[in-house]
Amino acid sequence: LRNKGIERPVIIGVAADSGCGKSTFLRRVNEIFGTKVSQSHTPQGELVTVICLDDFHTLDRKGRAEKKVTALNPEANNFELMYQQIAALKEGYDIMKPIYNHQTGLIDPPELIQPNHIIVIEGLHPWYDARMKQLLDFTVYLDISDEVKVAWKIQRDMAERGHKLENILASIESRKPDFQQYIDPQKKDAVAVIQVLPTRLIPDDTEKKVLRVRLIQREGIQGFQSVYLYDEGSTIDWIPCGRKLTCSYPGIKFHYGPDNWYNHDVSVLEVDGNFEKLEELIYIESHLNNTSTKFYGEITQQLLRNSSAPGSNNGTGLFQVLTALKMRQLYEELTGKSIAPVLV
Ligand code: ADP
Ligand code: G6P
Repeated sequence: LRNKGIERPVIIGVAADSGCGKSTFLRRVNEIFGTKVSQSHTPQGELVTVICLDDFHTLDRKGRAEKKVTALNPEANNFELMYQQIAALKEGYDIMKPIYNHQTGLIDPPELIQPNHIIVIEGLHPWYDARMKQLLDFTVYLDISDEVKVAWKIQRDMAERGHKLENILASIESRKPDFQQYIDPQKKDAVAVIQVLPTRLIPDDTEKKVLRVRLIQREGIQGFQSVYLYDEGSTIDWIPCGRKLTCSYPGIKFHYGPDNWYNHDVSVLEVDGNFEKLEELIYIESHLNNTSTKFYGEITQQLLRNSSAPGSNNGTGLFQVLTALKMRQLYEELTGKSIAPVLV
């Protein structure tokens, strides 16, 4: 039963509203773990299996419409089954996981999922249920502010999918109460939160192309050491635009310091602005500490490899890479195994 030499599956939760960068983040995670995502419904790579929690919808699209509940409502999700199945995987058992088909909006026949070294569960409610929180070794919340969420949705649904602006805005509004009640509270107790806010560098910015991004890192968590700038625990503002970093308007500003996040001690690393030349990020990397890299330049290399992914030129990409490196380190600490870095 305990196959593939997996003594201790490490279970990681990634929570966010839809359209908030979960897939993009997981692509970066896969790059760092050097795993190939297969074409099957649930990607089962060599090391990492990603489970989308939409598969635990109890109501299909029609059912949700009839009952007038959103996909965010716990009523539309089977948390009991979710808990049973993730707990079973953690114990080393195979499961037959349901499938929610995003194309048809129907619930498809279940598929076999086997335990893996790392299991990432991503979706709306990874730890809405307190029992789920107990199963998770690491938790990441992608906290996208409303203004930015709207800009991203418009970009994707209008530019790429041809939806009408008023429909996009109406859909966001109709999800808001459930989002605030059921999804957003999970950010309070995530180990790492990537918070994405409008820039402060451009007064009244309407474009939302420049972002202020904060990596909120819990202190005192076993196996997790927060990334810091220059000097651990101090408070630092850093404008690196000078000889080593090309910056045009509106520039780049870093901040680092201790803070409080819903009554938890945290360290916050913040960057506002865009990186103009990605290769120069090595200069930023040289000033970051506790990054969990395996060689100098690994962060820069990861961003360059994925340079076309959204956010590679700003704090979203940088902090997604840092968070993925933390996941690798945690896996190594919990299992005593070592994952070779991906070299180009
Ligand atoms: P999810 O998996 O949570 O639905 P995706 O990773 O597919 O989210 O991202 C959804 C869309 O949001 C992308 O197609 C892109 O338009 C936009 N997006 C996501 N992350 C970023 C980012 N860091 N910067 C700019 N746009 C982004
Ligand atoms: C998934 C997503 C939800 C999204 C839903 C679409 O479940 O996680 O965020 O709302 O699909 O639902 P719909 O009722 O529009 O098919």
